[in-house]
Amino acid sequence: MEAESYRSHSEEETFRLGTAFAERLRTQDVVMFFGDLGAGKTEFIKGISHYFNVEEIVSSPTFTVMNQYTGETPENDEITIYHVDLYRIKSEEELDEIGFRDCMYSEDTIKLVEWSENAGNLIPDIRWTVHISFDADNENERLIVINHIGEETPQYPSLEATV
Ligand SMILES: Nc1ncnc2c1ncn2[C@@H]1O[C@H](COP(=O)(O)OP(=O)(O)OP(=O)(O)O)[C@@H](O)[C@H]1O
Ligand SMILES: [Mg+2]
Repeated sequence: MEAESYRSHSEEETFRLGTAFAERLRTQDVVMFFGDLGAGKTEFIKGISHYFNVEEIVSSPTFTVMNQYTGETPENDEITIYHVDLYRIKSEEELDEIGFRDCMYSEDTIKLVEWSENAGNLIPDIRWTVHISFDADNENERLIVINHIGEETPQYPSLEATV
């Protein structure tokens, strides 16, 4: 798949991109987020959670490291979503301590990982990646680059149409 680039001009637009993107997600999928503090990773994830009707309040789990939500697909199937924040993780041992390895190997769950830079060797061969970066000139503008790494990625229509 070719990487897709989007420009977001507001928190709300990033949320809507997340919701539109979520339509592509299937159980088992891993989405690895990259981007500095305050880039908008959690905002995008809130959009994904909204698509799956997650009722819990989604916040950056920086202090809890890992949150587990129960959502539902448009077909009304229950789905488990892990929301992980690896910001404070410094070593492979810590990844194991927080249960990140188990999380990544759990079946039929969607995994959303903030600060994937710290995931060590627990990066699956097949994964979505979302890179969010700041714009130098406009404090509310973000560049969001979405990619799928791995085998046989289907082609998806641009998210612009749904946002
Ligand atoms: N276009 C935009 N998209 C997303 N957030 C934006 C945008 N413009 C401004 N913001 C602001 O940037 C902040 C993004 O916060 P968010 O918690 O989503 O970042 P994060 O990448 O998860 O950071 P952290 O690494 O601390 O978890 C919010 O305060 C939001 O209001
Ligand atoms: Mg966050």
